[in-house]
Amino acid sequence: MKILLIGEKGQLAWELIRTLMPIGEVIPVDYPAFDITDKSQIEDTVSAIQPDLVINASAYTDVDRAETEREKALAVNAEGPGWLAQICHKCGISLIHYSTDFVFDGTKQTPYTESDAPNPINFYGLSKLKGEQAIQNETDSALIFRLAWLYSARGNNFVNKFLEWAKKYETIKVVDDQVGNPTWARFVAEATAAILAQSFCGGSPLTDWVRQRAGVYHLTSGGEASRYDWACKILEYAPDREQLRVKEVLRAKNKDFPTSAARPAYSPLDCGKIVKVSQITISNWESQLFSLY
Ligand SMILES: NC(=O)c1ccc[n+]([C@@H]2O[C@H](COP(=O)([O-])OP(=O)(O)OC[C@H]3O[C@@H](n4cnc5c(N)ncnc54)[C@H](OP(=O)(O)O)[C@@H]3O)[C@@H](O)[C@H]2O)c1
Repeated sequence: MKILLIGEKGQLAWELIRTLMPIGEVIPVDYPAFDITDKSQIEDTVSAIQPDLVINASAYTDVDRAETEREKALAVNAEGPGWLAQICHKCGISLIHYSTDFVFDGTKQTPYTESDAPNPINFYGLSKLKGEQAIQNETDSALIFRLAWLYSARGNNFVNKFLEWAKKYETIKVVDDQVGNPTWARFVAEATAAILAQSFCGGSPLTDWVRQRAGVYHLTSGGEASRYDWACKILEYAPDREQLRVKEVLRAKNKDFPTSAARPAYSPLDCGKIVKVSQITISNWESQLFSLY
């Protein structure tokens, strides 16, 4: 299987490149050599590579900056994925795309299912929701996985940021009124590979196999944690604790840290649908974090 992977230098793509190796030949591309907002570049790349599958791990992920760079966020997260889906559909190629828990407003008291109505409260969430819709308008052979609170050993994520703060400060305040699913990018990459591997047993062409399962799926770690819970566990599991300056992690509230973009207060996702369809196992957020080190 030939897989065109968009967003090569991102934290999820980094894991996908390694995890998908036994599944097929992965051809990674990234900005600026490949720009998802350039329709003719998508056409040229797809026709030159002729992949069996396209995986889009690219995105505009700066949640706060998206409030002011709205056109750019929309182009990368919605228009580009829509064109990609249109071109994939025309060429008979399936698409895997990733979305976010930030499509929800965070007012629910229990984990969100795929049948809950999205209602984004920031522009990043809105642009990602428009991306989901654009893809579904253009192709009937796409899997869209909604992820949450992604981290990996590389990249600009909360785990790496918190460890940097822990080297510099004795006291760190972290909010306890934002709850979600801290999810290891490698888990998402391995789940993607495990789901794809199942297509080999079906006997039908990949496009048909994906078409039979097409839709939105929640794919995160299990359980739920506040950012404060997450920070405490990062510290507990940190391999070089003695080199850290931090002595205490204190609870804080969202209102103490005003940001340009609002965040949903409660955005855990219910992964029951993907478990039912693919039989994958959803590991708990603490075991995923423990496995990072
Ligand atoms: N990070 C999270 O907490 C989180 C949570 C939920 C869902 N997600 C979703 O999960 C997916 C993977 O996220 P991630 O954290 O791995 O993202 P990431 O590390 O920010 O990587 C995104 C990649 O996309 C590239 N990109 C940006 N604009 C592009 C363009 N016009 N054309 C082609 N590539 C472009 C970026 O390149 P540059 O670095 O050069 O801009 C970067 O390499 C995304 O769909 C994201 O929305 C992420």
